[in-house]
Amino acid sequence: MSLKTVYILAILLTVTAIMATTFSRSTDQVSTTLMSTKAVAAPIKKDSVASVKAFASVYKVLMSPRCMNCHPAGDIPLQGDDNHLHTMAPRRGTDGKGIYAMKCANCHQPTNTPGLHTPPGNPDWHLPPATMRMVFQGRTPQQLARQLVDPKLNGGKNMEKLLEHADDGLVLAGWNPGEGRTLPPLSHAEFKKAWTTWLQTGAYAPKP
Ligand code: HEC
Ligand code: HEC
Repeated sequence: MSLKTVYILAILLTVTAIMATTFSRSTDQVSTTLMSTKAVAAPIKKDSVASVKAFASVYKVLMSPRCMNCHPAGDIPLQGDDNHLHTMAPRRGTDGKGIYAMKCANCHQPTNTPGLHTPPGNPDWHLPPATMRMVFQGRTPQQLARQLVDPKLNGGKNMEKLLEHADDGLVLAGWNPGEGRTLPPLSHAEFKKAWTTWLQTGAYAPKP
C-alpha cells in the first residue's frame, strides 16, 4: 500500500465514523421526541395572547342561556333566554337530579318533546351535583377560566378530560335545544376549536 492510499483510507474511515455518530445522535433525538409526545396527550405551546383570545369565544358560549341555565348560582335551574328561575322550582338535590316528585327526568325525557315550551330532552339531563356545583352564572371571565381548570372545582378533570368535555352529551344538547330556543352564539365546531385552543395554549385566565 502506498502512503497516499493509507491517507485516503484514513480520511474515509474518519468521515464514516463522524457520519455514524451524527446519525445515531439524530435517531436518539427522534426517539426522545416521540416518547415525550406520547407521554403528554395534549402538547402545550404556551401563548397567552392566543389563549386569552380563544377564551373570549369560549366565555360567550358558556354564559349563553343554553349553557348557563344548567350552571346557575343557586340550586334551582334557569329557563329561557332571560335566565329566569325554573317554574315550579325543581331543586338541585345532592346528585343534581332533583328531589322527591320533582326529579328532572320526570319531565325531561331522553329526547326533546315536540312543541313550544316543552321540556328539552336528554337521557342524562341534570345539574352538577351539590358537592361540585360548577357555577357559571355571575362569574367574570377571569374567575370562570380559573375555576374550569381547577381539579378541585371541575370534578377532578385533567387536560385530557377537559378537552373531551367539548363533545359531552349535555354540551352537545346546547345545539339541539328544542323548538323555539335560540342557539349558542358560535357553532359547535367553532366552540370546540376555541375550547381546544384555549386549553392547548396554556389555559390563561384573562386579566380582570
Ligand atoms: C342539562 C344541564 C346542562 C346543560 C344544558 C349544560 N351543562 Fe355543562 N354540565 C352539566 C353537568 C351535570 C356537568 C357535570 C358533569 C361532569 O362534570 O362530567 C356539567 C359540566 C360542564 C363542564 C365542566 C365544568 C368544569 O369546571 O370544567 C363544562 C365546561 C360544561 N359543563 C360546559 C357546558 C356548555 C358549554 C354547555 C352549553 C353548550 C353546557 N355545559 C350545558 C349540566 C349541563
Ligand atoms: C314538572 C316538570 C319539570 C321538572 C321536574 C323539571 N323541569 Fe326543567 N323544564 C320543564 C319545562 C316544561 C321546560 C320548558 C320551559 C319553557 O320552555 O318555557 C323546562 C326547561 C328547563 C331548562 C331550560 C332549558 C333551556 O335551554 O333554556 C333547564 C335548564 C331545565 N329545565 C333544567 C331542569 C333540571 C336540572 C331539573 C331537575 C333538577 C328540571 N329541569 C326539572 C319542566 C320540568
